[in-house]
Amino acid sequence: MLIPYPSKDSAACSLAFYFSLLYIYSMGQASALNILQLSDIHGADFLIDEIKSELEKADLVVLAGDITHFGHANAAGTILRKITSYNENVLAVSGNCDYPDVEDYLLENGYGIHGSFRENSGWLWAGIGGSLPCPGRTPNEFEEPEVKEWLDSLRQIATGSLDFLLVHQPPANTLNDRLSTGEHVGSRQIRNFIEEMEPLVCMTAHIHEGIGIDRIGSTLIVNPGPFRTGKYAVISISGKNSVNAELKQITA
Ligand SMILES: [Fe+2]
Repeated sequence: MLIPYPSKDSAACSLAFYFSLLYIYSMGQASALNILQLSDIHGADFLIDEIKSELEKADLVVLAGDITHFGHANAAGTILRKITSYNENVLAVSGNCDYPDVEDYLLENGYGIHGSFRENSGWLWAGIGGSLPCPGRTPNEFEEPEVKEWLDSLRQIATGSLDFLLVHQPPANTLNDRLSTGEHVGSRQIRNFIEEMEPLVCMTAHIHEGIGIDRIGSTLIVNPGPFRTGKYAVISISGKNSVNAELKQITA
C-alpha cells in the first residue's frame, strides 16, 4: 500500500489518508522481518549473483539510493530486474548519482517510497531520495528547506508509529555522515525527523566512508557502505524491542 502526500486543498483526499492509516494501524502485530539492505550499488549489477542466497532468504530487500552510477531509468531497470529475479519484495529510493527519472521509475513500478508512507508486511515505512548538494554537481540534489517540506508533509499524516525510514542522505552528526576529514555532512532535517518519529531503524547510504551502525536515541542508523565494493547489511527484526543489524562483505 502506497500512501502519498495529502493534497493541500482536498479534504476528501485527507479523509482517505486518515482511513488508510487507520487500516494500517488496525492490521495487528507485524510479523518478524529479515531485511537485506543494499546501499550505493552504483551500477554494480555483476555483484548481485554473489548474494543470491541472501536475496532469496530475505523477506524484503531495500535499496538506499545510488542504484546507478549517473544512470537513468533504463539503467535502474537493469539492476531492479536482476534483484527481483531473486526477490520481488523491494523498496527503494534514488540517490544523488541517479538521474531524477530513476525516482519516477521506482515509484511507477511500485518500488519507490520517496516522499511517501508504505505498508509492507505489517510494518510502516517512509523514504526520502536524493541528497543535499555535493562538492561536485550530481543530478539529484536538494536543499534542506525542500527536505523539510517533504518531511513536514509526512508529519501531517503520521501518528507516531513509523517503523522504518529509508534515506539516501544520512542524518546529521552520526558515524554515518562523517567524511574522512572528520566533517559531518548529514541532514539536520532528517535527524530532527528521526528524533521526533523514533523509527526502529534508519537505513541510509551516500557517505561511502560513513560505514557502520550508530544510534539516534532508540533508532538504529545503518550504513553498510557501498555495495559496489561488496558491502551490505542484514537487519533482523523479531519485535519492536528486538532489532539486530549486521554488516557484511562479499568474500572472494
Ligand atoms: Fe550518493
